[in-house]
Amino acid sequence: MKNTLTITDNRTGKTYEIPIEHDSIRAIDLRQIKVNDDDFGMLSYDPAYLNTASCKSTITFIDGGKGILRYRGYPIEQLAEKSSYLEVAYLLIYDKLPTADELAHWEERIMHHTYIHESLARMMRTFRYDAHPMGMLISTLAAAGTFHPEARNVGDPAVRQKQIYRILGKLPTIAAFAYRMRIGRPFNYPDSTRGYTGNFLYMLDHMNEQDYEVNPVLARALDILFILHADHEQNCSTSTMRSVGSSRVDPFSAMAAAAAALYGPLHGGANEAVLRMLNEIGDVKNIPAYIERVKKGEMRLMGFGHRVYKNYDPRAKIIKKVAKDVFEVTGSNPLIDIALELEHIALNDEYFVKRKLYPNVDFYSGIIYQAMGFPVDMFPVLFAIPRASGWLAQWKEMIKDPEQRISRPRQLYLGEGYRDYVPIDQRTE
Ligand code: CMC
Repeated sequence: MKNTLTITDNRTGKTYEIPIEHDSIRAIDLRQIKVNDDDFGMLSYDPAYLNTASCKSTITFIDGGKGILRYRGYPIEQLAEKSSYLEVAYLLIYDKLPTADELAHWEERIMHHTYIHESLARMMRTFRYDAHPMGMLISTLAAAGTFHPEARNVGDPAVRQKQIYRILGKLPTIAAFAYRMRIGRPFNYPDSTRGYTGNFLYMLDHMNEQDYEVNPVLARALDILFILHADHEQNCSTSTMRSVGSSRVDPFSAMAAAAAALYGPLHGGANEAVLRMLNEIGDVKNIPAYIERVKKGEMRLMGFGHRVYKNYDPRAKIIKKVAKDVFEVTGSNPLIDIALELEHIALNDEYFVKRKLYPNVDFYSGIIYQAMGFPVDMFPVLFAIPRASGWLAQWKEMIKDPEQRISRPRQLYLGEGYRDYVPIDQRTE
């Protein structure tokens, strides 16, 4: 078998033989296809990157048709059952499961960086009382970079390492402060002895109780949700992290951009949209009419469909199980009945079956977050905290990849050709 692709250009009758590597061709190899010497050469046109690989990666494997998700080869189901979020973050960033000593050192380093500069905390206090916590997170991440100017030296592995500790350590604190701002309560400063998710829940919730304890079931549930959200290969926010990071800007700024991408309702904002949708449906009896409106194209069923998964999202399966554990502590969320029935009806409806639309990670996560007492606008923030480890792993891989350069797509210019400027008094309607 010859690993090449032969292309015949019917405009010229010329034939080209292009190498195939990893079942793909290099788009730049198309450039040699020209009608004449003045021709720029053939481009591939791929709006929204439906069929373009922008990098080689060894981090996350997804088989969307089979519903498989693996981090560094380990199935998501095993990691969710046996691992912890910080261990998974280590795995994503260093490509191996840590030894006990390595894990202890990693956890200590991250928990050592949970405090944020007081000026940054003061800046957060200046947001308006109803500012969306995701907006606060994005701006504070960008501002955090100004406190660590050496972070710009992204070519230095030791500097990169330090920023990884800092970002993973500070992100839950920024998120918790955004939440406390939103509800008008004083900030709780981090308590590193409580573990990553335990400390986060503590910063969100503690008032003045002397013997405040975080519920271990809720802390573990959140830890599992963090594992499930840690990476998902080249999605919109991760591509943003890579693309913005390719300009060699500091990782705080690149991550602010990635978090902004995550904020959108078609990406990390979807779990918030799911909750609003379930509230709007309000009752199981209203589901058929709602589904009809979706089928007419009036709106989308939020939490359904995925660019990559054309099967049940494996994360949604695990989340459904986590919901059970959480509801035992918090009591059930009435929206779960609507969600279960909606899923049942949709999975049996030809419209959804034909288009391979299954529940995605966001369909059930919001219901759990709501049962745990999180306001709806904190949901994308709860996505951003764990995704930071994936963003950092992908950023590090991009920086170290000798093939990567500044991200700069091409366009097909379809506008006017040359024309002379027209003075304003000579212009017509
Ligand atoms: N409800 C109803 N119809 C849908 C939906 C939906 N949620 N998603 C896709 N479709 C239809 C769409 O109308 C189109 O139909 P047709 O071929 O008749 O025009 C077909 O399915 C293909 O849709 P698409 O828009 O070409 O698919 P995409 O790969 O561009 O979009 C998506 C993927 C996730 C943006 C989309 O499925 C969607 O908008 N889902 C709802 C929002 C959501 O849940 N997002 C969270 C994604 S998972 C977490 C994350 O990674 O952020």
